[in-house]
Amino acid sequence: MDKIVIEGGAPLRGEVVVSGAKNAALPALAAALLAEGEHVVRNVPDLADVRTMGRLLAHMGCAFERTDRHTVRIGVAAGTRPEAPYELVKTMRAAVVVLGPLVARLGRARVSLPGGCAIGARPIDQHLKGLEALGAQITLAHGYVEASAPGGRLRGATFTFDGVTVTGTENVMMAAALAEGTTVLRNCAREPEVVDLATALRGMGARIQGDGTDEIRVEGVERLRALDHMVIPDRIEAGTLLVAGALPGNDVTVRGCVAAHQEALVEKLRLAGASVEPVPGGLRAVGDGRPRPADFRTAPFPGFPTDMQAQMMVLLTVAEGSSVVTETVFENRFMHVQELVRLGADVTVEGKHAVVKGVPALSGAPVMASDLRASAALVLAGLLARGTTEVLRVYHLDRGYERLEERLEPLGARIRRVKA
Ligand code: EPZ
Repeated sequence: MDKIVIEGGAPLRGEVVVSGAKNAALPALAAALLAEGEHVVRNVPDLADVRTMGRLLAHMGCAFERTDRHTVRIGVAAGTRPEAPYELVKTMRAAVVVLGPLVARLGRARVSLPGGCAIGARPIDQHLKGLEALGAQITLAHGYVEASAPGGRLRGATFTFDGVTVTGTENVMMAAALAEGTTVLRNCAREPEVVDLATALRGMGARIQGDGTDEIRVEGVERLRALDHMVIPDRIEAGTLLVAGALPGNDVTVRGCVAAHQEALVEKLRLAGASVEPVPGGLRAVGDGRPRPADFRTAPFPGFPTDMQAQMMVLLTVAEGSSVVTETVFENRFMHVQELVRLGADVTVEGKHAVVKGVPALSGAPVMASDLRASAALVLAGLLARGTTEVLRVYHLDRGYERLEERLEPLGARIRRVKA
């Protein structure tokens, strides 16, 4: 298994261009299932999760190929097999976003239940309730969700999500695009990835309004056309690189990132004493001296993203004072804390809260990644720590970052991947 080896303390300076968003690309690829034809999705990051989605689409009988490193072509024919097997869903929960498109176009679907994961229980009850509201009949058998649309077509309805869910909103919105009549979805996720998916669906002929607010209205159409879509920049990769810029002594410009997607993070980086300013086509983050403490709590967009919680915590480990970090989205998303403690951080967790007492410096050590964003945080901590840090289980990192070490090395980081 590969590992990332970092010699900490080298100042980072320069520019980096952000990749396409994983969490926007995955639902856009699933949206291809809504229409027969030749689909093109551009600005797709070259990541393990995208390859898993490709295998899943291929399993269903679709042609999936990359025509260049960041462009994917998907051929969807009439005979799609509407099944997502456990072997693929267990490695990538986001695979569940094929459920809505399959039942909407083919009138039936069989999709494995994803099960829990490192960051929490992560049920999909809201996906299923939303589809039921559209008339889907759903049974759970042998670890699979079996869904069917009576008469072969879903019908529009009003549905209120019990809690805000990103892929739940995406799944039900995609299903509603082909349902008969009008659907009104309330308490929707407002994340930029939901808006990007709505944009992609409109490009296919879907009639969707209100994305980016908590109420989405969909006028169902009988048929959609093939997709040709350009995925938005990855706000979490961009945010991770902005935190790298905000570490003491660094100065990093992230090109291609959308400032409006970063407001909650930028506010907290500034509170922690970093300078973050817009520059043409991006944002520049400069870290000057030890950070100040900054309390923050994660929340659905436009709140502080849970996917940035671990990385922001790294900056606070060396702050002059104590910060309280509150995780409200997932119940078990502090797995990085024990590894940060191995690097000399002083962090204690109590329930949803982590108290981060700033220390003057971290010291390098071997650490183990537990999930995607935790592994990015450990890389940032390695950049900050004195001496050598080895981040093990890099496959977590590779699920969501396109060769992160190759983005950081040109900025001056002493970082390399060691092939196992
Ligand atoms: C998406 O996951 C992202 N994944 C996650 O990114 C991200 O952390 C998360 O949204 C929150 O922003 C993709 O977009 C592919 P949720 P998702 O449904 O949609 C509960 C990363 O690192 N819930 O918004 O699965 C759930 O347990 C990842 O890239 C229910 O109770 O998250 C959680 O507590 C990890 N019932 C909360 O809602 C449901 O039916 C929010 O989860 C659905 C969710």
